Amino acid sequence: MTFLLAHLSDPHLAPLPPARLYELIGKRATGFVNWRRKRQAIHQPEVLARVVADLKAQKPDHIAVTGDLVNLALPGEYMAARAWLDALGPPAEVTLVPGNHDAYVRSGVAASLRHWGDYMRGDEAAAIAHGFPFLRRRGSLALIGVSTSVPSLPLMAIGRVGGPQLQRLERILDESRSDGLYRVVLIHHPPTSKRSHYLKRLTDGPRLRDVLARHGAELVIHGHNHRRQTVWLDGPAGRIPAIGVPSASEAPPGEHDPAGYNLYRIEGANGAWRCEVITRGIIGDGVVELDRTMLAST
Ligand SMILES: [Fe+2]
Ligand SMILES: [Fe+2]
Repeated sequence: MTFLLAHLSDPHLAPLPPARLYELIGKRATGFVNWRRKRQAIHQPEVLARVVADLKAQKPDHIAVTGDLVNLALPGEYMAARAWLDALGPPAEVTLVPGNHDAYVRSGVAASLRHWGDYMRGDEAAAIAHGFPFLRRRGSLALIGVSTSVPSLPLMAIGRVGGPQLQRLERILDESRSDGLYRVVLIHHPPTSKRSHYLKRLTDGPRLRDVLARHGAELVIHGHNHRRQTVWLDGPAGRIPAIGVPSASEAPPGEHDPAGYNLYRIEGANGAWRCEVITRGIIGDGVVELDRTMLAST
């Protein structure tokens, strides 16, 4: 049976809600100036609405969202983002992991769990809900949500998985492979980053890559760079594709890549998976197919 997974990221929802002066101190001060000067022209609600309408028209079985829903982690942004999530789909059909902007200040970590927890919990009993990584089984897929969402200093956008998550990830990857599932790891930061992205890197990327190399995964999907990209990681039996999508709200021509999203059409069984990646994006006033690639079977 074929499973159609849609993946969008980094909506950076606009507009910003009204902020009190005392809320715009520290890291938010530089972020606020950056938003007013640059980012509010980049991330446009009309663009995001077109992307989401096109995505829904494809009737995916499930939607993955890989973080950066908000911008400055203002209290009002979390409720607005929850309304956006609810419009995207019910928690059972949408899986979310948080990004660095969702933890822009320390209070953001708790706020994202409080408002979006329904979209970030595994199938297991509620008692251990809100733990990362979490596991959701949908069809023949294991959707594994990893958090890299940690507060960082002004002008930094780093992420970190951390030892406890990495340990639990090893076990989840092993168990879901034993169950014959196609393992999709959802993560905001890419597992590898260029030297020029030092201030926005995943600080323990090498440790994550080591876990993936030893325990395997069929697919890693991420956001953060606001660009379409595919990097092949080492796996225990062949390479693992790590695929990034642009921001779902970036107006063309775009400082990075213009808005778009991916569809993954997955079929097969353990040892003989097939995954077709369909890339769709904004061109002019429309959203069109930009690329269609069959990933090597794993
Ligand atoms: Fe982002
Ligand atoms: Fe990010």
